[in-house]
Order: sequence, then structure tokens, then C-alpha cells
Amino acid sequence: MPQKFFLTTPIYYINATPHIGHAYTTIAADARARFERLRGKEVYFLTGTDEHGSKVARAAAEAGVSPQDYADQISAKFVECWRALGISYDDFVRTTQSRHEIAAQRIIEKLWQGGHLALGNYSGWYSVPDETFFKPEDVTERDGATYLANPSIDQTKAPLEWVEETTHFFRLSQFQDFLLEFYDLHPETLQPVSRRNEALSFQRSGLDDVSISRELSWGIGLPQSVPSHENHSIYVWFEALMNYATAPGFLSDDNAQREHFARVWPPDLQLMSKDIFTRFHATMWPAMLKALDLPLPKVLFSHGFWTVDGRKMSKREPDTIVEPIAFAQEIVALAACDFQIGVDALRYYCLREVTFGSDGDFSRDGCFARYNSDLANGLGNLVNRALSMLQQYFGGVVPASSDRVLDLRQAALDASSRVAISYENLEFHNVLGEVWNVVSLGNRV
Ligand code: MSP
Repeated sequence: MPQKFFLTTPIYYINATPHIGHAYTTIAADARARFERLRGKEVYFLTGTDEHGSKVARAAAEAGVSPQDYADQISAKFVECWRALGISYDDFVRTTQSRHEIAAQRIIEKLWQGGHLALGNYSGWYSVPDETFFKPEDVTERDGATYLANPSIDQTKAPLEWVEETTHFFRLSQFQDFLLEFYDLHPETLQPVSRRNEALSFQRSGLDDVSISRELSWGIGLPQSVPSHENHSIYVWFEALMNYATAPGFLSDDNAQREHFARVWPPDLQLMSKDIFTRFHATMWPAMLKALDLPLPKVLFSHGFWTVDGRKMSKREPDTIVEPIAFAQEIVALAACDFQIGVDALRYYCLREVTFGSDGDFSRDGCFARYNSDLANGLGNLVNRALSMLQQYFGGVVPASSDRVLDLRQAALDASSRVAISYENLEFHNVLGEVWNVVSLGNRV
């Protein structure tokens, strides 16, 4: 049986249509998925949309449609975008699908029975854009409102909301020692190192229990077996993280699905950007899995955050948002090429421009420059030259190899083993660098 490779992207909020930030993670995951398939692994590449919570309920209300209709519309845009970008996902999960909803309730039931949840009262500051609770020391008062004291580039600058309600807590504090010991034994789980250090210092500073139920109607209700379930739905982050287990078939009624889960679990690689790494993916998620007696993911990798021409993408400033399909069409218009080539150029730019893991800036000029230098003059020239010389000197028939061609062949073979290592280390820019060394060599033959 072939070895399996299970990889995930985050499931994207549907309060916004897909932009270049979402595309970045998904293209990177796609490149790795294709590489693993090429070397014979049975790949399960999971992506999808995160459809519950206050943020989505409000976006739907603003658009004047029901949350479900809104979710259907925007989720379809993600599917359309990934098709256009050639994303070879194997599964697209939507958190409003019954396979997810049923299994999510079963997870809550299991956690309750296992003593990992406790009933209590929550009061504190909540950010709807971040769907996150913040501690008193994280906030500051200004002009009669409360704000995050030091918001990072990806956190809200809008006022926070005071929330006071009966809630169910996940006893995250119980997992502090487990997590620190686990990461001590398996440091490679958290990558890159800078993010691991950040996560470890967050965990060492002490973990509070987290409120995992909200008095909110647009969400998955708590199961009836849990006390005080009435009017409560599962906190969107807690529920969203479960997708990684519910989609492959955890706690499914369907035998084939359960077998699928047993075959693919645990994830070999989970990708996301740094804004959702420390608190959610490196801390809450592994603690949930431990509470469910499930093995932890092998690698959680956080890439950097992209700005557009130096600015944060924001719905309030539409010129900062780069839509992937529209952008591929801009390349098509500029280069008079097929749509598919525009897409390839966009994919190339995303993976070539920035070291995966570092922050990056998406610039139109940068992308067009790469198009001209690397794709048109580099690869395009090689293909053109090779084909026209073949026609001109050999009547279109591939001749027996000459020494110079054999050198090129050896260089390509040597590069391929370095390419494999770079793929494993998620150094996509090096993968492409290696390939382009061979392209340049080819242009000199
Ligand atoms: N729904 C949550 C994730 C739940 S996963 C269990 C969420 N959604 S999101 O729509 O905000 O998408 C977050 C992810 O999209 C990031 O982790 C990253 O992968 C990608 N990006 C969104 N904007 C980005 C940038 N500006 N730059 C790089 N990646 C970005 O958080």
C-alpha cells in the first residue's frame, strides 16, 4: 500500500471573497500535494470554508440575506477560485455540512464525558473580527470604548465588545505540561523555529481555560446530553478546528469514512499564517486532540503575512485587495497569454518571491518583472530555442544525446534530489531556484 500524506489549509472565513492571502496558503499546499503524489504517496489534501460565528452572521445581515444563503454564495466562490487556480484538493469541507455538524456535536459529547469541559460564567472582552476573547491586560480604554492595546497587523483596531454569559469551558490549563513536554520531545512539530519559540513562550506563561460555547444562534448547537446546552452553540474557533478530524471521517456513522479516518490520521502537514498559529493551532488544537486521545499532527507550519504594495489588505480599502482570478486576468491582458499561463505566473510568483515562513509584500510590478525575467526570458526562451533549433537543425526529430545534453541531464538529476529536500523543508523558493538553475544552464547549451 502506498504511504499516505494528509495535508490541510485553514478553512477560510466566508465574510470575504477569496484574496491573494488565502490563495497563497492554498497554492503552497497544492504544490506540496502534487509533489507527494508524484513520488507515489496517497495524498489527502483538505481545504474548505469556515461558515459559522458572529462575523459571518453580521456579514450576512449586512448583505441582507440569511447566513446559510450567504455561506452558499461565498463558499461557492472559494470553490470557483480554487478550480481556476488549478488547486488539486481531494476534499472541500464546509462547516455547515451535516458530516461536520454531527461529528462536531459528538466531539463535544466525548469531551464532556471525559471531564474536559466545565460549566461556568464568562465575562470579558471579545473581538468579532478576530473571533477571539482577550485578557484584561491586552486591552486599553480610549474615548469611552475598549480596544486592543497593541494590535498586530492582523488584529482588529475596532472597539471590543463586552461579553457576559453562562458558558462551557474547555480545561485547556490542564494541558500546559503535556504540550510543553510534547514539543520538547518533538520540536519539529512547530515550524519555523521563530514561531515555535513564540508558541512555547505563550504556553510557558500559563494557559487559561477557554470558553467554548456562545449564546449565538448561527452555529452548531451543543448536544442535548450536555447540561445547559439550551441556546448555546459551539465557539466558532473550537468548532472550526474540528474540521481537520470531522472531514476525514472521525466519529462518522459511515464505515468507509471511519476507515478513511483511521488510514489518514494524523495530518502530516498543516499550513496557516502566523495570526492563527500560536493560540489556536499550536495550543488549543493539540490540546483538543490529546483530550480526544488522538495522535497530534506531525508538522504545523506557519508562513508569514502578505501585504499588498506595503499595505494590509482591508475591506475598507478595496484597492488593497488582490483577487486571484482578476489578477491572473491582468497578467493575461498584459502578456497576451492564455488564462492558464496567467495562473501559472501567479502561482510561480507566490512561491518564488518570498521565503516560505517570512512576511512578504505582493506587488504587481514585482510579479510582472518575474514574469518577464524568469518565465518569458528564462523558461519561455529555453522552450522556444529548443523547439526552433530542433526544427531547424534536426527536422523536428530528437537527435541522439551529445555530451553537452548529457551534462544538462546530469545537472537536472542532481537538482532533483535537492528539490525533494527543499520540498520537505517547505522551501518553495529553493525548489524553484534549483529548477531555474537548470533552465539557465539549458539556455547556455
Ligand atoms: N477561519 C479561520 C481559520 C480556521 S482553521 C481551523 C480563519 N480564516 S481566514 O479566512 O481569516 O483565513 C486565514 C488564513 O488565510 C491564514 O491563516 C492564511 O493561511 C490565509 N491568509 C489570509 N490573509 C493572509 C495574508 N494577508 N497573508 C498570508 N496569508 C493570509 O482565520
